Amino acid sequence: MTKPRVAVFASGGGTNFENLVRKQEEIGIDIVLLISDYNEAYAIQRAINHDVDYIVVEREKYATKAEFESDILSVMRMYNIEYILLAGFMRILSADFVGRYPRKIINIHPSLLPDFKGADAIGDAFRAGVRETGVTVHFVDAGIDTGEIIAQVPVDVAPEDTLEELENKVHSIEYQLYPQAVRMILAKRQEDEQ
Ligand code: GAR
Repeated sequence: MTKPRVAVFASGGGTNFENLVRKQEEIGIDIVLLISDYNEAYAIQRAINHDVDYIVVEREKYATKAEFESDILSVMRMYNIEYILLAGFMRILSADFVGRYPRKIINIHPSLLPDFKGADAIGDAFRAGVRETGVTVHFVDAGIDTGEIIAQVPVDVAPEDTLEELENKVHSIEYQLYPQAVRMILAKRQEDEQ
């Protein structure tokens, strides 16, 4: 089977992006493109370091979200992208966009969804004083951090944990879970096709 061509979307530091790039061989994917909506995202430097093409598509440059997404879709077609992996992409994709890639857009979120949706899930969980949070990988639908859950792993919050310690714990689980979950989806697809 030829490896699916994958684009990763990231808005920030890109540690999950880089982790996926490093593990793409064992996952069985070909990461051919990084899309970033922020031209200063450190993820771009990581793409350069790993010789992955990148394209910056800034929302502010477009009058409407539909035009912004239409340019992204053109790039997806140009690169013949089959799967989109969101890795710290801080924009909500429209129902129209998501509907074009059913069960082909996947997201990682740093909480045990449905708890702590949104942009600062680790901070929100920390401030709420919960004893347990976690990491979720899910298919993306038109909602915010909704969509069918693929895999979840809990992370204990120790009473003495600082926010930084909790962030480190959550991220280290992310680096294991995202590659595993993607591999699982591909294995399942292969099974279904046989
Ligand atoms: C990750 O923790 C990811 O789960 C989170 O952004 C971080 C990106 O870090 N995503 C969300 O909060 C999505 N709602 P990275 O740029 O270093 O991979």
